[in-house]
Amino acid sequence: MMVLEIPKIRLRDGLEIPVIGFGTVFLKGSEGVLAIRSAIEDGYRLIDSAYNYENEGTLGEAIRQGPASRNELPVTSKLPGRYHGYDEAIKAIEESLFRAQLDYFDLYLIHWPNPKEGKYVEAWKALIDAKKRGLVRSIGVSNFLPEHLERLDKETGELPVINQIEMHPFFNQSSQRRWQEERGIVTEAWSPLFRGRGLLGDETIMALADAYGKTPAQIVLRWHHQHGAVTIPRSSSPERQRENLSIFGFELSGDDMKKIDGLSRPDGRIDDQDPAVYQEF
Ligand SMILES: NC(=O)c1ccc[n+]([C@@H]2O[C@H](COP(=O)([O-])OP(=O)(O)OC[C@H]3O[C@@H](n4cnc5c(N)ncnc54)[C@H](OP(=O)(O)O)[C@@H]3O)[C@@H](O)[C@H]2O)c1
Repeated sequence: MMVLEIPKIRLRDGLEIPVIGFGTVFLKGSEGVLAIRSAIEDGYRLIDSAYNYENEGTLGEAIRQGPASRNELPVTSKLPGRYHGYDEAIKAIEESLFRAQLDYFDLYLIHWPNPKEGKYVEAWKALIDAKKRGLVRSIGVSNFLPEHLERLDKETGELPVINQIEMHPFFNQSSQRRWQEERGIVTEAWSPLFRGRGLLGDETIMALADAYGKTPAQIVLRWHHQHGAVTIPRSSSPERQRENLSIFGFELSGDDMKKIDGLSRPDGRIDDQDPAVYQEF
C-alpha cells in the first residue's frame, strides 16, 4: 500500500511532528484498535489520545499491531484536571504509560487549565520533571488562554511548545494563534471538522469544494494547514481517514482563505467550552 508522505513541523524543542495527526476520542475497544490501526496503515504518524478518553490501552494495542515503528510514530496523551497536584500528575503519566504499554510519550499536554482550581502551574512543574525523567519527550498544554500561558512563563520560565485548542472555521482563534506564533508556540486544532455537526454542509465550504474539485473536509483541513495549525481529524472510516490526509496537492487562494475566515463567530464554539470558565476533570 502506498503511504502518503506528510509534511512536518519542528517544535521549539526540536521534536518534529507531522502537520496532520489522528484524533481518537471515542475510539475504544476492538473497533477502536481497527480504526487506529487503519489510520497508521494509511500513513498517519501522529496520534492524539488522553487519559480521559480511556483508550490508551486501545491505542497501545493498535500501535503494536500497526506497521510503524515506535520512533516514527509520535504519540500524545493528556493529563486530566483531577490530577493537577504534583505527585498525582506524575503518577497519572506513569499510569498512562502502563495502560498504553509504552516507555514514553512524545507529547504530553495538560488537558484543561481549570483556572478556578488554580493548580495548573503545579501540574506544569510535574510535566517539566516528567520530561527530565524521560517519561515524556515534549510538553505542552491544551485549552490554555494567553493569561494561563503567561502565568506558566512567569512562575516556571518555561512555555509549552504546543497548545491544542478548539479551532475550525466557525471559531478560528485568529488572535490566540497570532499571540502563540509570536512566542513560538505551535497551534494544534482540536475538532477541526466541527465534530461532524454541520460545518461540512456549510454553503461557503461546499461551494469551495466544488470550485477546487475537493471534498468539504479537504477544504477545511487545507485551511488549517495554510494557517500553520497542526490538525488531528478523527474518522472511523478508512476512506475518510485517507481523504483527510490528501490535502497537499492544491492551495486555497488568499481570497478563499478570507471567505473561510469570515465564517467565524464569537459564539462559534461547539459546546461553549470557554477555558476561562469551563472546567473538566
Ligand atoms: N484537547 C481537547 O480538549 C480536545 C477536545 C476535543 C477533541 N480533541 C481531539 O481532537 C480530535 C478531533 O476532534 P473530534 O474527534 O472531536 O472531531 P472532528 O475530527 O472535528 O470530527 C470527527 C467527526 O467528523 C466525521 N468525519 C471525519 N472525516 C470526515 C470526512 N472526510 N467527511 C465527513 N465526515 C468526516 C467523523 O465521522 P466518521 O468517524 O464516521 O468518519 C466524526 O463524526 C479528537 O478525536 C481528540 O483527539 C481534543
